[in-house]
Amino acid sequence: MQPQWSPLFRTDTQQSAAESGWYPPVEGFLFLASGHRGGMARARATTSAANFLPAEPSLQALREAAAGCQGCDLWKLGTQTVFGEGPESAGVMFVGEQPGDQEDRAGKPFVGPAGRLLDKALAEAGIDRSATYMTNAVKHFKWQERGKRRIHQKPTWAEITACRPWLEAELAAVHPHVLVLLGATAAQSLLGREFRVTQNRRTLVESNLAEAVTATIHPSAILRGEPEQRETEFAAFVDDLRFVASLL
Ligand code: URA
Ligand code: SF4
Repeated sequence: MQPQWSPLFRTDTQQSAAESGWYPPVEGFLFLASGHRGGMARARATTSAANFLPAEPSLQALREAAAGCQGCDLWKLGTQTVFGEGPESAGVMFVGEQPGDQEDRAGKPFVGPAGRLLDKALAEAGIDRSATYMTNAVKHFKWQERGKRRIHQKPTWAEITACRPWLEAELAAVHPHVLVLLGATAAQSLLGREFRVTQNRRTLVESNLAEAVTATIHPSAILRGEPEQRETEFAAFVDDLRFVASLL
């Protein structure tokens, strides 16, 4: 059942159900909690992380519960759940897409190549990483084998939706002053599928997710981009993070 402490992100259906005093049966809650809007109700007991949320909303309880999450099929593919990391008192939360190969092995977010680039940009912008909370929209590594390498695959909208309850619970537990969405997956998970990162950089997004909400590119976009563009892209990314620093 949807826990009482996460009322911020109810679907429209849940809102109107609550307002009218009508409460669906348990199957209905599971169905609604999976973020599905409209269509025939089907009980989807294993298609959302909502079914694995602990009774106690502390970060420690969430982390322990998330370790056993089977809210979508990605738990079969990744080595372990890569939960967010950082102090509960963090003033700023960064949200990426999903753990990569190295994060999957280490069990920690942003420790691979994209993480190192993020670290460098944070340092240039004067943001202390140890005082931030780092997490991802999806908490298992999705990959495809290519030769000896595990190649990152984009999570589907259904997977992003299934995993969102963890992100919402982290937001409710940390309650950061500033929320920074890195790339389209994170931004669209919390702001809707129409959201375009490139059109909203270095600006405040209207949202009640945190006092200040902003979005920028994902650091791996810099690594994947044209080598001759890298310096320019990196400098622009640092500028975005300086904007974040100005909000702290
Ligand atoms: N990319 C992400 O989005 N998150 C990580 O933790 C690592 C790479
Ligand atoms: Fe659960 Fe998210 Fe992992 Fe899917 S990706 S199994 S919803 S933690």
